[in-house]
Amino acid sequence: MRAVLVREFGPTDGVEIGEIEAPLRLGTEVLVDVHAAGMNPIDFKTVIGKGAAKAVEPLLPWIPGGDIAGVVAEAPYEAHDLQPGDAVFGSANHWRTRGSFAEQAVVPSLALALKPQSLSFEEAAAVPCAALTAWDAVVRIAKARAGQRILIHAGAGGVGHFAVQFAKYFGAQVATTVSERNVDFVRSLGADEVVDYRAQRFEEVLQKVDVVVDLIGNVADDTGTRSLDVLKHGGLYLNVPTGSWPDYASVAAERGLRASAVKVEADGSNLGIIARLIDAGDVRVEVQRAYPLESVHEAFDALQGGHVRGKLVLQVR
Ligand SMILES: NC(=O)c1ccc[n+]([C@@H]2O[C@H](COP(=O)([O-])OP(=O)(O)OC[C@H]3O[C@@H](n4cnc5c(N)ncnc54)[C@H](OP(=O)(O)O)[C@@H]3O)[C@@H](O)[C@H]2O)c1
Repeated sequence: MRAVLVREFGPTDGVEIGEIEAPLRLGTEVLVDVHAAGMNPIDFKTVIGKGAAKAVEPLLPWIPGGDIAGVVAEAPYEAHDLQPGDAVFGSANHWRTRGSFAEQAVVPSLALALKPQSLSFEEAAAVPCAALTAWDAVVRIAKARAGQRILIHAGAGGVGHFAVQFAKYFGAQVATTVSERNVDFVRSLGADEVVDYRAQRFEEVLQKVDVVVDLIGNVADDTGTRSLDVLKHGGLYLNVPTGSWPDYASVAAERGLRASAVKVEADGSNLGIIARLIDAGDVRVEVQRAYPLESVHEAFDALQGGHVRGKLVLQVR
């Protein structure tokens, strides 16, 4: 099958499109004919030798890509809920097997759900990692609700645009940071307060926040450390780019704040709930651009630029 192959870690220009044997399905895994694969920052971080590189080194040539949308080619067994021909989306276990930037991938059945009927394969492939991360932070951990004020950094990005919508859906007051060109976009998603992070320091205009969902961390402008200044006593700081600020928990504790990392988990059951919200028109997915597989280098360049609105997707077939 045709796939994006990482033969050694290094600049993303070095990934190849080549032929490799199709993966073998085992046990309750599902073999999926991939139609589209969503891209996430972890994909380029791993290709360049960071991210999950140590874990995937034994798999070289490795295939990147967690997010997948396609059609079931082989089901685990006859009476399984998923059967050949079903349109599905979900999360390939790309750190332990090969990923979704390929014509076929194997996916644990519990990491899949039926594709939202209102979405194309490209749109569906943009959902899993970003939406599940946002769901874990905003819904499962922060328990977004009316009367709560949540600040979401990078509300225009992949995780952020879902986080803004989930927080709004569950009734929270939503503040978010974006650059000027994305102000109208996040307002259209429901953000109540929008700070242009290039023009204003968010801690000078936002106070008494209950929860910060930090999608930037201390990678840029000490966003993580400065986030503690906006929280109420006892407020909750959620660190999503977990490598960016190793001692966030002790710093937060010294200031009477709660803090946690967030690590996305493949979860077909939550994806099923998210699919219903999408089909009901309560949540939408923004795909900035879908690239043919042959343009994977261009797509990686855009992803690494760090200013994608919503998501980037690869069209596989
Ligand atoms: N722990 C986990 O399990 C997990 C899961 C998913 C993602 N992550 C990590 O979380 C981070 C976010 O992921 P993502 O997929 O949402 O990334 P992304 O889509 O690439 O984020 C791009 C967005 O970031 C915004 N941005 C850039 N610099 C900013 C700043 N200083 N302040 C506010 N916004 C800024 C950009 O908006 P402008 O163009 O307006 O600047 C753009 O819309 C990444 O580091 C990713 O690796 C971790």
